Amino acid sequence: MVAILDFGSQYTQLIARRVREAGVYCEIFRYDVSIEQLREVAPSALILSGGPASVYGAGAPHASREVLELGLPTLGICYGLQFMAHLLGGKVERAEGGEYGPATVHVTKPVGVFARLAEGDTLGVWMSHGDQLVALPPGFTALGSSPDCAFCAIGNEETKVYGLQFHPEVVHTKFGKEILEAFLFDVAGLHAIWTPASIVEQAVTAVREKVGPEDRVILGLSGGVDSSVAAVLCHEALGDRLTCIFVDNGLLREGEGDAVERMFRQHFHLNLIHVKAADRFLDALAGVSDPEQKRKIIGRVFIEVFEEEARKIPGVKWLVQGTLYPDVIESVSFKGPSAVIKSHHNVGGLPERMQLGLVEPLRELFKDEVRAAGEALKMPREVLYRQPFPGPGMAVRCIGAVSVEKLRVLREADAIFEEEVRAAGLYEELWQSFCVLLPVRTVGVMGDERTYDEVIVLRAVHSTDGMTADWARLPYDLVGRASARIINEVRGVNRVVLDVSSKPPSTIEWE
Ligand code: XMP
Repeated sequence: MVAILDFGSQYTQLIARRVREAGVYCEIFRYDVSIEQLREVAPSALILSGGPASVYGAGAPHASREVLELGLPTLGICYGLQFMAHLLGGKVERAEGGEYGPATVHVTKPVGVFARLAEGDTLGVWMSHGDQLVALPPGFTALGSSPDCAFCAIGNEETKVYGLQFHPEVVHTKFGKEILEAFLFDVAGLHAIWTPASIVEQAVTAVREKVGPEDRVILGLSGGVDSSVAAVLCHEALGDRLTCIFVDNGLLREGEGDAVERMFRQHFHLNLIHVKAADRFLDALAGVSDPEQKRKIIGRVFIEVFEEEARKIPGVKWLVQGTLYPDVIESVSFKGPSAVIKSHHNVGGLPERMQLGLVEPLRELFKDEVRAAGEALKMPREVLYRQPFPGPGMAVRCIGAVSVEKLRVLREADAIFEEEVRAAGLYEELWQSFCVLLPVRTVGVMGDERTYDEVIVLRAVHSTDGMTADWARLPYDLVGRASARIINEVRGVNRVVLDVSSKPPSTIEWE
């Protein structure tokens, strides 16, 4: 296992992803993790992340000297290099103008982290630093330099401590993968054993160890990637002691309830309770048009319904949640508290209310590892690569008050758009693509008749994490086909428009 100490870099999670992609398990810790805590997890190597601070600045994050004295193979990246060099007797100074963006590094000594490169190789790298190392700590030599930076890569072959002024984890850095792999495999002597099969095996073992042999476990299945993989994984571990509760709130996409039923009950033979609660949700939502109110109502009714169903199962001690690693990482945050933009629908409060223990089989995994685990569990691609869908479902895409008829229009239009996006081969490339129904009607003409009907919006975005998003430049042919089909096939729609706004300042969902 590799321990990554986070000094506040925006790339820390990326380092972890790259290490895991190389087949090595790693975890992220705050820079000030105690020596005891580190000893407990017994890492085989350390990576020190970058960070925005200056090592000599007031309040700069410093790891304890003891951690570096554990004698582990260590790689410092950017601030990590500067901090390590500073601690070991080198000299760091403010660089004139700093170095930001692309730069060229010449390999002068192909050893250690450069072992997979050749002398004279030039690397296009990604730099982002205001300070730089001006004198090496004792025992270190330079492995590479750039016109503006004499010590772009340094190392001490005896102690296996290396440092890079550039970022090997970003895609813009050429040979970044070779450099990280040289550190993991050649320097630290690790092996690539973190594979999808081993991810599943470890998660299954961990669930079995946590849950007592007689205990029953429940899981709220949404049909999304995380809860679906968590369900199949826990079923593998617990068999029939797992019951999945799928609440159909009447706000799902076309055919979704049946698809979940087919997949989990018929294909995977899971114990599935399919609660058809559409009326209850729609009654509670009747006449409510405020977006926050709608979200709160859906969250409340979901908890009520879920609790009622769960109470019917005797001997339940545990609730499964599909928490992922990015939600768990207690990284250094230099940001202040953020305002509530939308109250997300989640079941965070359930375990305490129901006095259940929590089982989180995906807690150590990134999203791509969840998908890889799903593939190892032979789950179909449609489930693993389904676009994200918000808990409040179609309610936040049906602007204003929701009704059965409005949901019908939206659902039919959305199914057509999805079909066309899939036919164009763009479904998996897009972060999300869906329809929104506006609370306005406009005039149109069909045959010789005047119409006064609904407006559908096509919304499609590219994003990597949902935090920011760019509107997708869909081919006009696709937009045209989707529009023509929606207007012709969905009763009650006479106009289709395209949303061309990015996040920020817009959000992905309209409510
Ligand atoms: P926004 O609309 O805030 O959405 O740009 C960012 C991402 O979050 C999804 N989303 C939700 N997911 N429960 C969820 O599980 C929610 O209440 C919720 N609201 C928005 C949204 O689809 C997008 O991917």
